[in-house]
Amino acid sequence: MSTRTQVGIVGAGPAGLMLGHLLHREGIDTVILEARSREYVGARIRAGVVEQGIADILIETGAGERLGREGLVHQGIALQFDGERHRVPLSDLADGRTIVIYGQTELVKDLIGLRLETGRPLHFEADDVSVHDLETDRPLIRYRHEGRDRQLECDVVAGCDGFHGVCRPSIPTGVLSEFSREYSFGWLGILAAVAPSSDELVYAHHEHGFALLSLRSPELSRLYIQCRPDEDPAGWPDDRIWEALQTRLGLEGWTLAEGPILEKGVTGMRSYVCEPMRHGRLFLAGDAAHIVPPTGAKGLNLALHDVCVLAAALTDWLRSGDAAALDAYSDTCLRRVWRAEHFSWWMTQMLHRAEDHDPFDLKLQLSQLRYVTSSDAAATTLAENYVGLETV
Ligand code: FAD
Ligand code: DHB
Repeated sequence: MSTRTQVGIVGAGPAGLMLGHLLHREGIDTVILEARSREYVGARIRAGVVEQGIADILIETGAGERLGREGLVHQGIALQFDGERHRVPLSDLADGRTIVIYGQTELVKDLIGLRLETGRPLHFEADDVSVHDLETDRPLIRYRHEGRDRQLECDVVAGCDGFHGVCRPSIPTGVLSEFSREYSFGWLGILAAVAPSSDELVYAHHEHGFALLSLRSPELSRLYIQCRPDEDPAGWPDDRIWEALQTRLGLEGWTLAEGPILEKGVTGMRSYVCEPMRHGRLFLAGDAAHIVPPTGAKGLNLALHDVCVLAAALTDWLRSGDAAALDAYSDTCLRRVWRAEHFSWWMTQMLHRAEDHDPFDLKLQLSQLRYVTSSDAAATTLAENYVGLETV
């Protein structure tokens, strides 16, 4: 079975779904193929911090109705070290800009809902997806769906299939330059049915390792603890998790409220970028092209930024044949990607305890943390990166 579309989108994470949404608004035909089921995609718990500039785009383009209603606007975060908590007033330092706390899971559900309303194809459980003829002007996607082999002819293919997807590995060896860094630690993340113990996020440096207090709603806390990257969450019974969180986040005169743990999972950490984010008629977006460690809260924001740039560029090209923005796509995105890579690496090394951590590292971290929380210039650097340096 063979069909045709203008833009074949591989992956229904935030990048693929938002790209489909933006192109549909411009009257451009897309087909979205997703390996997993709708239930699986709508239940994966991941990021939760949306930069104001990205939240504004979601709202302006009709994808942020619930985010606008239910998202929690925050104007600061706290950094904790040496037994003290220091507020970083993000909005005061970064021209009044804020962040919005809204779960990626909820955003994905909203985008799936919008797509289904359009009646345009979004095929879950697409098996054996492969991309072909990328260097021609008729790239092809082959896949299996509902027991039948299918073929989708496209003008372009958008690889929005995450870090472990098939699109990036389909680019011939030697074409891409790859840059990466592995870390000796990961995060154990939990979702707990308990009111958040702090109104704002707390990033805690501790001699036992990093911890982060975040939230999803007035009734749901999201917490993270530094652990080994390959750690089995089964080795972390609930008591052990709360004990570690109490130790790392605890402060005199403040208590971390505990509650039933609804979900737990371990995420490894990596920095990775491939350049360029394009090969022929294949355009990579989001985690398919770059990964940041989560400490800077940038992964979701970068993925959404990429597809805003890509949607505008594809619209120009498909409407009028003007390829200037499409040709600049990779360079345009990579500027922001590298800023986020640096910021995420910087936050990560300032706050975590590395395996080969020595007393010199510890002294440097504490000095950096004291500087960031006492100098307006240093705090502004953190604030303007955290809220997002530029919009599209
Ligand atoms: P993804 O969300 O990965 O979406 C890719 C989609 O493609 C998936 O639905 C996948 O099933 C699908 N796919 C894969 N292969 C194929 C195939 N062959 N065919 C068809 N479909 C395919 N960022 C933060 O800022 N904070 C966090 O706390 C945080 N936690 C994270 C936890 C985990 C476990 C992971 C993996 C990431 C986390 N991130 C976090 C990063 C953030 O969630 C990502 O940057 C964001 O999901 C990127 O969106 P995306 O659409 O590019 O990729
Ligand atoms: C969350 C995740 C992050 O990576 C981060 O830096 C802050 C908050 C969250 O899931 O809420």
